[in-house]
Amino acid sequence: MNVTIIGGGYVGLVTGTCLAHLNHIVTIIDIDKTKVDAINNAKSSIYEEGLDVLLKEHIGKNLKASLEYSSIQTSDIVFITVGTPPNPDGSSNLSYIRFAAENIAKEYMIGHTQHPIVVIKSTVPPGTTENIVRKTIHGSIPDVNVGYCMNPEFLREGRAIFDFFEPDRIIIGSSDQVVIDKIKELYEDLDAQILVTGSTAAEMIKYTANAFLATKISFSNEIGNLCKKLNVDVYEVMKGVGLDHRISPFFLNAGAGFGGSCFPKDVSSLASMITQHDLDPVLLKAVLSINSNQPEKMILLLKNRLVSLNGKRIAVLGLAFKDNTDDIRESRSIPVIEMLLSASAVPVCYDPKATKNMMQVFPDLIYCNSAKDALKDADGCLVMTEWQEFAELDAEFSLMKNRIIIDGRHILTIPDAEGVCW
Ligand code: UDX
Repeated sequence: MNVTIIGGGYVGLVTGTCLAHLNHIVTIIDIDKTKVDAINNAKSSIYEEGLDVLLKEHIGKNLKASLEYSSIQTSDIVFITVGTPPNPDGSSNLSYIRFAAENIAKEYMIGHTQHPIVVIKSTVPPGTTENIVRKTIHGSIPDVNVGYCMNPEFLREGRAIFDFFEPDRIIIGSSDQVVIDKIKELYEDLDAQILVTGSTAAEMIKYTANAFLATKISFSNEIGNLCKKLNVDVYEVMKGVGLDHRISPFFLNAGAGFGGSCFPKDVSSLASMITQHDLDPVLLKAVLSINSNQPEKMILLLKNRLVSLNGKRIAVLGLAFKDNTDDIRESRSIPVIEMLLSASAVPVCYDPKATKNMMQVFPDLIYCNSAKDALKDADGCLVMTEWQEFAELDAEFSLMKNRIIIDGRHILTIPDAEGVCW
């Protein structure tokens, strides 16, 4: 099929490239020329395992990026994968969604395939597909029979290519049979469970799944904080708990808390929707509050051991919000670095992939090229990201001035590291 993707960010680039790998003919549209040029040169603007290889395989063949919207006219399906960043009150800013819908309408006025289909993949509040996308397009071109669908993404950064080709489920949020059949055909090479729902339910599924996963993490952290007081290993506890098939062993890792572009934003956005409907998001407020307290717990543990942080050199291992990515959005290392700076400590940072991105937030920190360099002469160490290479660190810790090591991710294998909640 001919497919246009509006928005060459994380979701759009991965989705477009993977759809090209399923033999579709794909154009990714973005307003950022640097991004478009990079994609056309088979260079990904983000670090995502396996993405560069697929880009190289398909760019110049059945995949291209463009600043122009004209490919919409000849596309069977147009995906909207633009960002929905949070407003100051936690609600979603839908201006990019509106802009994409307006551009689709403009192009459909010039030309289009028969029964063109618009698919929303961005995370959007319930009702957006109907009340914003459909209304915007239909308002401009009432005579064109456009089909609509909400098809949320569940891609984990760092494992996004795997998640695209091996999804747990594909949600098709539409009541239009032509649309449902076409989307099934688009993904027919994937072996996945398909669930057809209304578009509003599909929108809600995305928020609910992310909020539930975030709740599992904060729940594990609350139990972990108690376990630490009781001198019980929360990882042993959660292993026993996760063996119950009704609970499952996943997303029960206590530690520094969740970050990233999705969980904090989606939980806040859902909480703000609940408030707008005169309800109190008691549970979600607790999920966010537990999460924002975990980094401070790491600093307190450090303070307990060092007494004062003033002038102390603290190795911060891991800047990305999780392993296998260079993304630092809402990374738990950001509040930790802020707290170290306000206590007049000297953070000495290392990350295998995310240093360049963190330099834009904190240009004046000391950044090292290896964990070993960061640990040399350090008065303390905080492990903020579950990078596998940290599991192999051992002799490097002997280079520290004071061997005080706080592990926020249960990743270290040395015996004397103290866990944030174990
Ligand atoms: C998430 C969802 O998993 C994905 O389905 C959705 O589409 C986008 O948001 P992502 O943000 O890439 O994906 O990261 P994920 O792997 O879910 O981890 C999120 C955060 O939770 C990370 O900071 C991670 O370190 C933390 N985490 C995860 C825990 O603290 N404990 C866990 O048990 C699991």
